[in-house]
Amino acid sequence: MSTSGGADLVIVANRLPVDRIENPDGSPGWRPSPGGLVSALEPVLRANDGIWIGWPGGADGDTAPFEAEGLDLVPISMTPQEIEEFYEGFSNATLWPLYHDVVAKPEFHREWWDSYVTINRRFAERAAEVANEAATVWVHDYQLQLVPAMLRELRPDLRIGFYLHIPFPPAELFQQLPWRRQILEGLLGADLIGFQLSGAAQNFVRLVRQRVGHKTHRDVVYLPDGRTVRAAAFPISIDSAGYEELARSEEVARRATEIRDALGNPRKIFLGVDRLDYTKGIYARLRAFAELVADGHFDVEDAVFVQVATPSREQVEQYRLLRDDIDRLVGRINGDHGQIGRPAIHYLHASYPREEMAAYFRAADIMVVTPLRDGMNLVAKEYVACRFDNEGALVLSEFAGAADELRQAWLINPYDINGMKSALLDAYRADGRELTRRMKAMRKQVMEHDVAAWADKFLTELAAVRPSHGKSVRP
Ligand code: F6P
Repeated sequence: MSTSGGADLVIVANRLPVDRIENPDGSPGWRPSPGGLVSALEPVLRANDGIWIGWPGGADGDTAPFEAEGLDLVPISMTPQEIEEFYEGFSNATLWPLYHDVVAKPEFHREWWDSYVTINRRFAERAAEVANEAATVWVHDYQLQLVPAMLRELRPDLRIGFYLHIPFPPAELFQQLPWRRQILEGLLGADLIGFQLSGAAQNFVRLVRQRVGHKTHRDVVYLPDGRTVRAAAFPISIDSAGYEELARSEEVARRATEIRDALGNPRKIFLGVDRLDYTKGIYARLRAFAELVADGHFDVEDAVFVQVATPSREQVEQYRLLRDDIDRLVGRINGDHGQIGRPAIHYLHASYPREEMAAYFRAADIMVVTPLRDGMNLVAKEYVACRFDNEGALVLSEFAGAADELRQAWLINPYDINGMKSALLDAYRADGRELTRRMKAMRKQVMEHDVAAWADKFLTELAAVRPSHGKSVRP
C-alpha cells in the first residue's frame, strides 16, 4: 500500500487470504486460507505492493484495513443475515449448483438476489476507495459477478479484470436464472474476463450475443459505447515447484511412511481429497471401490481407500445432506468389507496443512479425482507435482477442467460406475513402466504451466486490452 493509502493493484475476492481464528489463549489470530486462489495471487500481490479486499469469515463488523503475513488486507463485513442470503444462499445454493451442471437443484429467491446486489456493491465501493488513479483491479469468482460494472461506473479510470474459478454453464442452463441479464451486464464491466476453459468463454460470448444483444466477433464483445471486452481461457494452476520441493523433504517422506504403516501396509492405497461438496463425485467413487472389493478383485490386505473430506459450507442444506449420505455409505462399506483393525475406507472429515497433504500424495498409489463437474481441480495437479518419483496413477473425471491438460490420466465418466470400476482396476494393475510413461507426460504439463505463468498471462493480456488505458502491473 502506498503512503496515500491506495494501491496500483487491488485483488477483490470473496474471501481474504487469511481466516480469522482464535488462538489457544483466546486472543484473535489469523491463519492462511486454504485453496488455490490464495497461493495463486499472493506472490503477485507482494510484487506489486497491492491490496486484497475480502471477507474474513464470520459476522464481525470490523472494516479497518490491517496487515497479516506481510499482506495489506481490507476486510468486508457481513451481518449474519447477509451471510445467509448472499454467501450460503445466492452464491452457494443458487449459482454454485447452476454453474455445476445443476447436479443439485438451484434455488431462486428474490431476497437472496437483493442481498447479492447489496454485497457486490459493498465490495465495489470499497475497491473504488482504495484503488489509485488508473490502477488495475482484479475481481475473482462467482460471488462477485456484479462488481466489474458497479466499479466501472464509480471509477471509469480503472483497468478491470475478472476471473471465474468455476465452470460457466451452457446457455441452456444459464437461462434458468431470473437475473441472467444483470449477471452478464455485471461481468461486461471488465476489460478482460478469464475462464478455466475455452468452452466456458464461448458459452459466455454466445449468451451476451443472444441475451444482451451486443455484437461479438470470436472472443471479443463490442459494447455500444465503443468499449470492447475480451473473454478467453486461462487455465489456473498451482505452485508446482513449491509442491515438489515439499514432497522431496525428509519430513514429508517420513510422514508418508508413517501413513502407510498406520494403514497396515496394504499393497496399494487409493486416495481421494476434496472439499466435502456434492459436485466432487465422492459417493460414486466410494461405491465403485466397494464393488471392486465385493467382486473379489482385492481385499483390505491388497487395497484400502483413504478419503479426506474437508468440511465446507456446513450451513447449506445440500452439504448437510451430503455429509449424512457419505457417513452412512462409509459405515455400510466398512461394515460389509472391513476386518478388525482394517477398515476398507479410512474417512477423515478434516482439513490438513499442505505438508500433511504432500505426505498423503507421496503415500498414495492411485489418486482418485471424480467430480461430476469441476472448473479445474487443483488436487489432481498437486498430486502430479508431488510425484517427482514418476510413480503413482491418476484416475480423473472427464468433467474436471484438469482433464484437458492431464490427458495421460485414466479418464473416466463419473456417471458410469462400471467404467469407473475398470479404470480403478486398470490403474491398480498397471506396471511400473506404464505408470512412469503416464506420470512423466503429466508432470511435464504441470511443471511447465504453474500458477505464476497463469497470473502473468492474465495480467499481461489485461494490460494489452486497452494499452493506452491504465497503468501496468508487474506480473
Ligand atoms: O474456487 C471456488 C471457491 O468457491 C472459491 O471461490 C472459494 O474460495 C473456495 O472455492 C472455497 O469455498 P468457500 O470460500 O465457500 O469456503
